[in-house]
Amino acid sequence: MADTNKSIHGEWSSRFAFILAATGSAVGLGNIWKFPYITGENGGGAFVIVYLLCVAAIGIPIMIAETMMGRRGRQSPINTLQTLTEEAGANKNWHYLGWLGVIAGFLILSYYSVIAGWSMAYVIKAFTGSFSGESASQISGLFADLQASPIQQAFWHTLFIIATMAIVARGVQGGLEKAVRFLMPSLFAILMLLVAYAMTTGSYMQGIEFLFKPDFSELTAASVLTAMGHAFFTLSLGMGAIMVYGSYLPKDISIGKTAIIIAGADTLVALLAGIAIFPIVFANGLEVGSGPGLIFETLPIAFGSMTGGWLFGVLFFILLVFAALSSAISLIEPAVAWCVEHYGIERKHACIGMGFFTWLLGMGTVLSFNQWSDVTFFGATFFESLDYLTANLMLPLGGLFIALFAGRIMLPKDSKEELNLGNDMLFTIWKFLVSYVAPAAVFIVFLNVLGVFGIFS
Ligand code: PFF
Repeated sequence: MADTNKSIHGEWSSRFAFILAATGSAVGLGNIWKFPYITGENGGGAFVIVYLLCVAAIGIPIMIAETMMGRRGRQSPINTLQTLTEEAGANKNWHYLGWLGVIAGFLILSYYSVIAGWSMAYVIKAFTGSFSGESASQISGLFADLQASPIQQAFWHTLFIIATMAIVARGVQGGLEKAVRFLMPSLFAILMLLVAYAMTTGSYMQGIEFLFKPDFSELTAASVLTAMGHAFFTLSLGMGAIMVYGSYLPKDISIGKTAIIIAGADTLVALLAGIAIFPIVFANGLEVGSGPGLIFETLPIAFGSMTGGWLFGVLFFILLVFAALSSAISLIEPAVAWCVEHYGIERKHACIGMGFFTWLLGMGTVLSFNQWSDVTFFGATFFESLDYLTANLMLPLGGLFIALFAGRIMLPKDSKEELNLGNDMLFTIWKFLVSYVAPAAVFIVFLNVLGVFGIFS
């Protein structure tokens, strides 16, 4: 079926282009903004270990599954699932899994864009020298001012949505392949520079210990769920982003190793961000669990006190914005591809529509940091609720069903042919991981949060 078909949306030019695009999707705010602050909130080392385990045992097998399903279906996740369901002669309801993903992507982008907007605001702050010579508390004050202003946040959020939609409207391949080729090495270089700075703070070892020395008494059922949810979030799994990118993957390219490369690069960037940030937190007596503002309150201290720091600050926040952009486009691509397929409309028009709704919902997140800060659902603000719903529930649930579909519903001859791992043993291991290990792990973590097992409770 899929042998001769190409996606109507186009194809990547090579395996390397796919790796770049998928790494671009994976590496984003999740690595540099979210990973450090949730690690801080969840006690450090033990949380990091659970997260790493989830990446290896659940994330990589599911990434292989998503890419494989996308390439076989060759359409948006909704239609891909429909095609694959028919091919396997399975229950039609499986295509709702595609819907779950499209909705999750839309919800995530709405708040992702607000945080990316903060990064844009910080490019200007760095450029105008706002950090130089400032104390930690003055720098925290800068961040508090931004959070308190709906107008400023709305401005940057609007700009970010427009930029995202402008790229998606042009088709992903051309602009994206080029951008990521330059972006990843540069981001890596600046992170190394920040790590070098962190070594000079005098609290380097304290930061490293916090990040890597596990204290399992700090772990709770909720933090295990957060670690697992983050493994999905950071690898862009469970919602069809990697599936839709897989649908643009040429037929002759093998999928197995690419997933390991992508997950490895993603993990490395997150760990480097942690190694750069925690020493600065400790050296300046800041609060590790201070939440979403963490990188905006720590890194400017480094930029403010190093020689030429304004330039590195500008570069760092520009790269962060780019990293966010290359993730954002993959968040909305499944929805846009579906609109094009379903309504036969132009990409451009699909982008305008989706962009508008995402922007509107994002205003809820903007307001949740100021005007609506006391409007809560089960004790969480609008932003916190969206984050919890998507990262901790929708992505793991999507991933659970994707794993089951790839492992148990698709016919083994089809998945084997599509994966083309070239080794029966590897195929058997992968199939075991997606059919049993990944679904069971997600299920157990869910039940544990409900208090069924009472592990780490
Ligand atoms: N992986 C991205 C990050 O870590 O910032 C976020 C993301 C992108 C999540 C695409 C989900 C997704 F489908």
